[in-house]
Amino acid sequence: MPRHVAIIMDGNGRWAKQKGKLRTFGHKAGVESVRSSVRYCRKHNIESLTLFAFSSENWLRPVQEVSTLMELFNLVLGSEVKKLHKNDVRLRVIGDISRFDTKLVNKIMAAEELTKDNTSLTLNIAANYGGKWEMVNSCKNLIKSVKEGLIDIDAIDESVFEQQTSLAGQPDVDLLIRTGGDQRISNFLLWHIAYAELYFTNTLWPDFDEDAFQLAIDEFQSRQRRYGMLNEQVNSK
Ligand code: IPE
Ligand code: IPE
Ligand code: MG
Repeated sequence: MPRHVAIIMDGNGRWAKQKGKLRTFGHKAGVESVRSSVRYCRKHNIESLTLFAFSSENWLRPVQEVSTLMELFNLVLGSEVKKLHKNDVRLRVIGDISRFDTKLVNKIMAAEELTKDNTSLTLNIAANYGGKWEMVNSCKNLIKSVKEGLIDIDAIDESVFEQQTSLAGQPDVDLLIRTGGDQRISNFLLWHIAYAELYFTNTLWPDFDEDAFQLAIDEFQSRQRRYGMLNEQVNSK
């Protein structure tokens, strides 16, 4: 089993369009797939699930769609946090939340505080997140620590850098899933997917249920992760 699964939840708009509905109908339907993914991870003891909910580039969408997405995020936070807490899920929001309105920011902080000691699953929601933003932000944190004399420049290595990232302390992503048929990263996690297995499916996000998740896991389990070694070396381990 992967310890950490990350998902680019794509295809909500096309799903809605196929049904003759507005794009926002697809975003609302996508919430059920979030629930079923969390359920799948809890059942199978996956430690971390990271979901791409809103990219730093998604601000470029029509204002109406952006505000509906914000409203939805607000609503879902309100309705799901208690359930997540009851299910021992730790919620973290990664991304530049400073651009959100204060009510939403406060809600996010309260949810993180409430669930911070939960240990069964860490659910990271990437909101106003960009992989490049995260790299720059991590560098800034690192430079601050050096300036304050907390870290010696020569002591900086990959693990020290990792501690400055949004997913500090969590295992690297083992499996990256993208729904919706496109095969690209769209500025999602860059550092953390360095050795992830990539899985692309045409299934649109609102149709991505527990069975679809299982198919991705089946594929993951059929891959050989060599980390630079030879097939024979991996087999003899
Ligand atoms: C993904 O679905 C959700 C977000 C980016 C918020 P899309 O809205 O990108 O759906 P498609 O790709 O247009 O079908
Ligand atoms: C990626 O989907 C972002 C999220 C799923 C939140 P997009 O639909 O925004 O990606 P592009 O623009 O097609 O690359
Ligand atoms: Mg899309």
